[in-house]
Amino acid sequence: MQARECCADRTDGFPQKTAAVSSILLCGEMGLKMEILKIEGGRRLEGAVGIHGAKNSALPLLAATLLARGTSEITNCPQLSDVAASVNILRHLGCRVTGSGGTVAVDSLPLCRSDVPDGLMREMRSSIIFLGALIARTGEAHMSFPGGCELGARPIDLHLAALRQLGAEIREERGRLECRAAGRLKGTAIALDFPSVGATENILLAASTAEGETTILNAAREPEIVDLCAYLTRCGAKIHGAGEGAITVEGVERLNASPFRVMPDRIEAVTYLAAGAATGGRLTLRGADPRHIATVLPAFEEAGCTVRCAGDELSLSAPQRLRRVRSVRTMPYPGFPTDAQAPLMAMTCVADGTSVFVENIFENRYKHAGELIRMGANIKVEGRVAVVEGVRALSGAPVECTDLRGGAALVIAGLAAEGSTSLRSLHHLDRGYEGLEDALQSVGASLHRIKE
Ligand code: EPZ
Repeated sequence: MQARECCADRTDGFPQKTAAVSSILLCGEMGLKMEILKIEGGRRLEGAVGIHGAKNSALPLLAATLLARGTSEITNCPQLSDVAASVNILRHLGCRVTGSGGTVAVDSLPLCRSDVPDGLMREMRSSIIFLGALIARTGEAHMSFPGGCELGARPIDLHLAALRQLGAEIREERGRLECRAAGRLKGTAIALDFPSVGATENILLAASTAEGETTILNAAREPEIVDLCAYLTRCGAKIHGAGEGAITVEGVERLNASPFRVMPDRIEAVTYLAAGAATGGRLTLRGADPRHIATVLPAFEEAGCTVRCAGDELSLSAPQRLRRVRSVRTMPYPGFPTDAQAPLMAMTCVADGTSVFVENIFENRYKHAGELIRMGANIKVEGRVAVVEGVRALSGAPVECTDLRGGAALVIAGLAAEGSTSLRSLHHLDRGYEGLEDALQSVGASLHRIKE
């Protein structure tokens, strides 16, 4: 689609990137460290925190609004820099995006572009999730390779192979993806080598309005996939098997906009539970879905915590001294989620005994171990295995967020440590945790952001 004079340049009422988000994005890109988080450790967390909408559901949902004609109102949308980046991409494409607080309304009718500029691609690595929807909606897509991130190479071969099977012609040249489809995409049978979350999402977005039936074998089964399928179905898609290893999509001509509420963030929930456990506290989560973390809760119980679930309330009461968690192996859902590995590692640093982690999903997801060691943790990393010997106490220190969940691990460690911790590179945290400091302060933590 030619980049005609596009209507995207209007303000549309959606708050421009907030100053904080802009400065975060600027810092992130330029490596400037504008703010640090000062944490005074040694205080038990006690009280209740609310769980926000899930980042990893909101991002594909926002991409999916491209396919639905009209205005989709997405509620319970977390206010995060990754969401702001997605909104910027939607507005660049010509969509009218309005809303405030946890609501984002996307009118995709004015869509008039099919390119995502490098700067916007760089703001958020998971921008690749726009690929399938853009090709399906406009017949083309032009964007740079998302590139790697702190967790490793982050290849997209499964995405590209599947979209090619659906009939997209994709040229990879000079770090860019130039994609075209002659007419509607064509449904087909796709077997994924690995149950990739992003690849499953891109296939669902591309197949929903394709001609004919698409089956996805070895599909990702994460709750975020179920959420995306629920929204697409509301818009008129015909999808069967969401949340199972085999999903069938019967392509329809057109999808119509629909309101949708984002599911609760299961990784935010685990992060707060780990903070409560590491500080010997008593914490209640409101608005969580315990079913989504059913394979994580046993680790807290093995560590000596009492966990109680009542509807969408989840309560944890921790012992004065945690016990080790013998073995944590990250797996595709419903196995132990890779995003929970770092927060739980921080918790086990101050547990009695040896905890063993095996990271089976990403090839480089132990960067936080080095920063935890600066705080006195005893961790040995050998390839995909990390062995944590619990110590009596961690000591506050100046440390740096290495990535989103690694940053969360350092917050947890700082809360449990003796003394003061100063945490830098907070733009990582702001990608995935809304109101983290306020929530922790509300349950007794002593931490605050200061300008460096
Ligand atoms: C999603 O990433 C999440 N991000 C990640 O959360 C999460 O850790 C991951 O799923 C696994 O659950 C979002 O939803 C925005 P994958 P995604 O494709 O889709 C390999 C967080 O902290 N792979 O399931 O990128 C890949 O290298 C983030 O919130 C290929 O080899 O994950 C990795 O080793 C981090 N080829 C593994 O599969 C491909 O084409 C899992 O990747 C695609 C993936």
